[in-house]
Amino acid sequence: MTNQAVYYQTVSWNNGKVRLIDQTFLPAKLVYIDCDTVESLWEAIRSLRVRGAPAIGIAAALGVAMTAVQSVTTEREAFHQEVLGAVEYLRTARPTAVNLFWATEKMKKKLQALAKEPIGEVRQKLLQEAQEILEEDRRTCRKIAEFGARLVPPGARIMTHCNAGGLATAEYGTALGIIFRAHELGKVKEVFVGETRPLLQGARLTSWELKQAGVAVTLVCDTMAGSVLKQKGIDFVVVGADRIAVNGDTANKIGTYNLAVLAQYHKIPFYVAAPWSTIDLSIADGTQIPIEERAPKEITLWGGKQWAPDGIGVWNPAFDVTPAELITAFVTEKGILRPPFK
Ligand code: MRU
Repeated sequence: MTNQAVYYQTVSWNNGKVRLIDQTFLPAKLVYIDCDTVESLWEAIRSLRVRGAPAIGIAAALGVAMTAVQSVTTEREAFHQEVLGAVEYLRTARPTAVNLFWATEKMKKKLQALAKEPIGEVRQKLLQEAQEILEEDRRTCRKIAEFGARLVPPGARIMTHCNAGGLATAEYGTALGIIFRAHELGKVKEVFVGETRPLLQGARLTSWELKQAGVAVTLVCDTMAGSVLKQKGIDFVVVGADRIAVNGDTANKIGTYNLAVLAQYHKIPFYVAAPWSTIDLSIADGTQIPIEERAPKEITLWGGKQWAPDGIGVWNPAFDVTPAELITAFVTEKGILRPPFK
């Protein structure tokens, strides 16, 4: 067997529509859906059919391009308002991953730069811009993987959380990209994956991706992380990120902070892998990162079955912020970095 990662078109342009892998069906079924309205794309982002910071940025950029391509108006001002409307609307789908704002801002800037060009031209150029955001993410993940793989010792035992793989990006992934590349180089012994309650991205998506690539994967409940770090000879922890402040404070899937505290206690390196576009240069520290809070039923119900009594309080933050001092280094496409970021 070759140690080769498996590629999926997580997000793509399909003849005027935005094609997505509907991740809510995984791992049971690999289902593709086509979003042909900006509303259906918004819903797909909000309900995590497409998820992961870079992937939602790419999907939103393609959604803005779709609005431009579908527009039937011949009046320049109306066309611009329609496209800007899609930008603003898609930004309301989820608050934490800065890539959604970064990618839609790129689309907005492109539109503004093309203000004087004929509408037909602008449509084509916006589509090219969105496709370039996708291609750029592909290249970025490869670079992150190359840099990160240098940190991996032979026979490595690694722990990760949530899903920062091909399903969360254009292809290959950030944290998982590093693992895939190290696996291609024959350096990975075993990867421990936290299931990532409440929506189980680790269990459903990361373990599925690693298994497809032939990586030895061991799934644990999030509550077992301390025991894994204490007993399983973990060389390092690597996770992705949704937004990184200038000082290095990092928002990522809820439970990342717990893992970072545990890693520090056990003197295990803790790496964050992310594209430079995940760094929000407008915020000084993690206190300014907006944290999405999701519906209580994501915790109290699963598969239609109720796990908890009615009438109790439920708090469901989707992300937490790991203080920079718990993070050993950041693996980006520009290299292995330490904050502050400029
Ligand atoms: O709620 P999700 O599944 O979108 O959360 C995803 C994560 O937290 C990922 O770790 C992060 O977006 C990085 S993806 C390369």
